[in-house]
Amino acid sequence: MSVISNAGRDGQADQVNYDESQAGANRLPDPLAFLDSRQVRTAAEWRQRRREILVLFEKYVYGMTPRQPVEMQVERWELAEGALHGLARREQVRLSFSGNRHTGRMELLVYLPAKTAHAHGPAPLFLGLNFKGNQATHADPAIRLTQAWMPEQEGVIDHRATEAMRGVEASRWPVERILERGFGLATAYYGDLDPDFDDGFQNGVQPIFYQPGQGRPRKNEWGAIGAWAWGLSRALDYLETDPEVDARRVAVLGHSRLGKAALWAGAQDERFALVISNDSGCGGAALSRRNFGESVASINRRFPHWFCENFKQYGGHEQALPVDQHMLLALIAPRALYVASAAEDLWADPRGEYLAAWHASPVYRLLGLEGLASQEMPGLEQPVMKHIGYHIRRGAHDVTGFDWERFMDFFELRILD
Ligand code: GCU
Repeated sequence: MSVISNAGRDGQADQVNYDESQAGANRLPDPLAFLDSRQVRTAAEWRQRRREILVLFEKYVYGMTPRQPVEMQVERWELAEGALHGLARREQVRLSFSGNRHTGRMELLVYLPAKTAHAHGPAPLFLGLNFKGNQATHADPAIRLTQAWMPEQEGVIDHRATEAMRGVEASRWPVERILERGFGLATAYYGDLDPDFDDGFQNGVQPIFYQPGQGRPRKNEWGAIGAWAWGLSRALDYLETDPEVDARRVAVLGHSRLGKAALWAGAQDERFALVISNDSGCGGAALSRRNFGESVASINRRFPHWFCENFKQYGGHEQALPVDQHMLLALIAPRALYVASAAEDLWADPRGEYLAAWHASPVYRLLGLEGLASQEMPGLEQPVMKHIGYHIRRGAHDVTGFDWERFMDFFELRILD
């Protein structure tokens, strides 16, 4: 079945393939072959090949993240013990960045399990960006309303969040369960780093890094996904200074476009112990060459600001891409990786997400770790948890309690044991 959908701003529509017999990714680049065709045989050689792959993703997909350190000011303006009826310690922290006469800021909300006789050391933690501001993740009235620009939507007036936005995304953030299971949670609004619309990169963190005379990122420089990923690393910089957080056991996770950002953050920043993709789809965990659901052409047309300019030439020419998304997943190795799909989320191509994890598995194997054992997808809600974990649950594009329970199971199994 081929359907026409998703007209871009220019009114053009894309052919979207949902027919498995028309899909396929037979010729994928080999993560274990250098560009000069030499085969990778040892862990040391993988380090070199890893560098090669990372550079390809920088150049052709997400764009380069600036390497220069930024000035970061930390202001922890709240620390509340006994939050959430005694379950949590809540921290609210503002990270401010400056350079080039531009500034940026990111507001982190951190919940840590309250100390008990059993849980007293620094907490392992999940870190992820949210779509609607920190106040949307929980109804807790002490969470500061985001001050950032927001797109018009219910609960937003004149591009500002109102009280009506408290807890509106709470089903995606089961904070009490996370705390009960002994984990902390840190989150920030993704629009703090780069508001999600195509403004020519004037209002996010990008201008902080422009060279004299530069007005927008070059063709091989970062877009919005790069900025969101960068912010995740800055959050980790802060978490490393928090004695109550076990910064060696931080999982970075994200849903959908923020799953793409979490994967890119995890690929670049090896401090993340575990990387979790939820329904991240095209430009995330799903293979671009599959030709199923969202395509490179379509994502670039509808979201021209997400990737680097160079990525646009591959719309309809995925075979020419020097990488595919299984290689992004391979960059997580030897760390733990979890990919989650939803059965009705065909736009994100669940099978393409599974196959990318499968094709990343040889890298894990080379490093002495178990990747996925079969090319066949597991049944609905039958998670596999090797060093790569995967599940496909019933239902639509979303983050649910089922997803979270599996992420926590996997975290316990692979990182805490
Ligand atoms: C759109 C987009 C996807 C993205 C999703 C989301 O559907 O096409 O690539 O993952 O939005 O972020 O919810």
